[in-house]
Amino acid sequence: MNSSTFLRIASLINPFIGLTSATTSSCSNTNDFLTNPIVGPSTGGRSTCISGTIPLTLNTTGLNILYSPPQAQSAVTESLVELFQSDSSFIAQVTAGGPSTISGTYDIFVKLCHPSSSSSDLDSLSTSIKTVQLLTHGATLDHTYWDIAPGYSYVDAASAAGYATLSYDQLGVGLSAHPDPIQTVQASSQLAVTHQLVSLLRGADIAGYAFENVVGVGHSAGSTLTQGVTTRYPSDFDAVILSGTSASAATVALTVAAFNFINANADPAAPQFKGLPAGFLTQQSAAGIQFAFYRYPNYDEAVFEEQVANKQTNTLGVLLTLGGLVAPSTEFTGPVQIVNGQHDMVFCGGNCLYPTDQSEVALSTFYPAASKGSQTYIAAGAGHCIAAHESGPDSFNEMIQFLQANGL
Ligand SMILES: *[C@@H]1O[C@H](CO)[C@@H](O)[C@H](O)[C@H]1NC(C)=O
Repeated sequence: MNSSTFLRIASLINPFIGLTSATTSSCSNTNDFLTNPIVGPSTGGRSTCISGTIPLTLNTTGLNILYSPPQAQSAVTESLVELFQSDSSFIAQVTAGGPSTISGTYDIFVKLCHPSSSSSDLDSLSTSIKTVQLLTHGATLDHTYWDIAPGYSYVDAASAAGYATLSYDQLGVGLSAHPDPIQTVQASSQLAVTHQLVSLLRGADIAGYAFENVVGVGHSAGSTLTQGVTTRYPSDFDAVILSGTSASAATVALTVAAFNFINANADPAAPQFKGLPAGFLTQQSAAGIQFAFYRYPNYDEAVFEEQVANKQTNTLGVLLTLGGLVAPSTEFTGPVQIVNGQHDMVFCGGNCLYPTDQSEVALSTFYPAASKGSQTYIAAGAGHCIAAHESGPDSFNEMIQFLQANGL
């Protein structure tokens, strides 16, 4: 095999392999957990990032789910039909197996970004930047949601305001490990990953940078996860920003139906998923992604196409257990910001101000003890994926101003 063939194959496995040394270099920092770290620019182009994988050892309580994921599409669809049937007993049946222990060591892909101006002196980052934002993506998305393209990059907006960000791929997603999609990739194991990342960020264990403050920033299922952290570990985050979320799951089923989930390994449009076992699901069509995540015509078509081309997976293991994380974070006393697209279909049925402001309801429902600096924001004209809409930069500004107003 000649070297260019090797690079082409290797880059299918790891997209960082084969990048030229003009844009990337190895990091000299070795006394940390980051495996094969790479330094390069953000997709938006205005941040410098170090990325790689971290092996995290989990030992957490999950559910022994009595469900064996089928390969046949008719059986996949039937599972969803039975899950959403009006008198469904599907969840009761498959969760009757009781608690399980989820343990093992899994590689988690992380990307730590900071303002480009400090790139010449990576080692000074720990002393110059005090606050890092931990960015948790939503279902069927990955870390790239936070850094889609120039102008559509929350990573760059945060960098420009002097914050570091850590985006990552959740367990079972993107460049992170893909263990058993039903018994291992569950809400509790994903929560354990997020909680461990907070500890690593405070302890200088990711590329040697230690941060005084950690802000949890979520989108959609990532907001549910971030909120789950504030319930279970109320001192993890100094502040949280939850986007694409509400206290009502009434229209979630509608959008999951629009996805028309198929086994990712059977998707002719996504050959990168061919090796995944049955149970890793992905959207059948671009139209389903538009229906759930976008509000036409208030977005850039190229950004939409980029997201469709980069669509990721979700598992029934997560779908069935995520709701179990939802409980008021009664002990979280920091500031909270809830941000929703005006026309969010997933969590607001297409209008976040009807019949009353759903962001305000979420704030008072989930955060009864949040500090006075808490607030809500409606992203004008946006659908569920606020970062991908034309009002994205306005939302980013509002999120940054919220943190600054709260002394972070
Ligand atoms: C996992 O945690 C349980 C208790 O929560 C403990 O009994 C068990 O030894 C742990 N397993 C590992 C592999 O650390």
